[in-house]
Amino acid sequence: MKVLVTGGVGYIGSHTSIELLAAGHEVCIVDDLSNGKIEVIERINRLSNQSLSFIKLDIRDRTSLERTLSKLQPDAVIHFAGLKAVAESEEEPLRYYDVNVSGTTSLLNAMDSVGCSNILFSSSATVYGRPDYLPYDEKHKTSPVSPYGRTKLMAENILSDWSNLDKKRRASVLRYFNPVGAHSSTLVGEDPNGKPNNLMPYITQVAVGKRNHLNVYGDDYETHDGTGIRDYIHVVDLAKAHVATIEKQHKLNSFEVINIGSGKGTTVLELVSAFELASGVKINLNITDRRNGDLAETWTNPDYAFNKLGWKAKLNINDMCRDSWAWQKNNPNGYI
Ligand code: NAD
Ligand code: WQD
Repeated sequence: MKVLVTGGVGYIGSHTSIELLAAGHEVCIVDDLSNGKIEVIERINRLSNQSLSFIKLDIRDRTSLERTLSKLQPDAVIHFAGLKAVAESEEEPLRYYDVNVSGTTSLLNAMDSVGCSNILFSSSATVYGRPDYLPYDEKHKTSPVSPYGRTKLMAENILSDWSNLDKKRRASVLRYFNPVGAHSSTLVGEDPNGKPNNLMPYITQVAVGKRNHLNVYGDDYETHDGTGIRDYIHVVDLAKAHVATIEKQHKLNSFEVINIGSGKGTTVLELVSAFELASGVKINLNITDRRNGDLAETWTNPDYAFNKLGWKAKLNINDMCRDSWAWQKNNPNGYI
């Protein structure tokens, strides 16, 4: 298939592009490089021994987007491009609505202009909000608590309405849990701008000596060791879920929502221990207050993903720590 990947220079998009190429698909990436580096394209090419096409554009620029789609005539679009920091979305909600919601309508309009009827959208477990029960399944109510989460849910609703207009259309929404890890080649990985918001990149930056210690946000939750539980998923497993989705999309419902996680919960302290074992590096800890807005625990029931896609996570916490560390150690300053 010919696949247009928006935001393909980013963390999840780059790993997905590698898996798409490995599965024999043709890939064209569009990205405005607002949170990515062009070096990623060179590394994907090196890894896959191919020359993928890349066009620098902002998905809100409909003219350029339509021109690109008209030239490429993609069979499917995977839509990663967007903003993803919860705290930043509280400070700049309009920018988040503009990029994440208007960006999505711009993309759908461009797809309509060339009759492309298949899209896979990157959504997030954050759309569920406070759990009524765990593990979350796809029927759990949605009640996001941040502007970021609301932009994701709005985009999902837009996709649902769009998919209703023509029975040929397919909109598949993957709600990711906590992606971590890196490609085993160490050529591609997570390269956050500035101070990381998320746990794993913070741990790896402490391990490589860029940060002094890890703040553990609370050890008084009602979990077995008092720290927060999350469902970590290796980014390569997540990338493979995208390949499975576009390959099976014709068999899916016109609008389909699927949770993508491992189905296992891991505490902050358990992740730190696994990381220390994988890296041989001790992580200095500082237990602090809880972070505002954090939930005690979240994890998914992965059964629907398996039933619909025949996909399940294969890599475990130890693999995630090993690969995150190998990436950070070999690229202490990320992409240059
Ligand atoms: P990322 O920031 O690494 O990648 C996003 C890419 O989109 C970047 O390369 C950026 O330059 C590009 N981009 C941003 N705005 C753009 C625009 N207007 N036009 C064109 N390109 C634009 O993020 P990621 O972690 O790879 O996440 C990808 C997607 O997955 C996002 O939509 C995010 O909301 C979603 N998601 C991420 C996580 C996570 O923990 N990483 C979890 C759930 C969902
Ligand atoms: C994991 C655990 C923290 C950092 C966020 C977004 C969510 C999604 C994934 C995009 C929690 C603890 C963290 C640190 C810590 N992204 N922690 N010290 O909060 O589950 O989700 O990323 O959609 O929308 O909200 O992930 O990695 O930030 O935190 O103790 O320095 O680690 O309290 O228990 P989270 P996270």
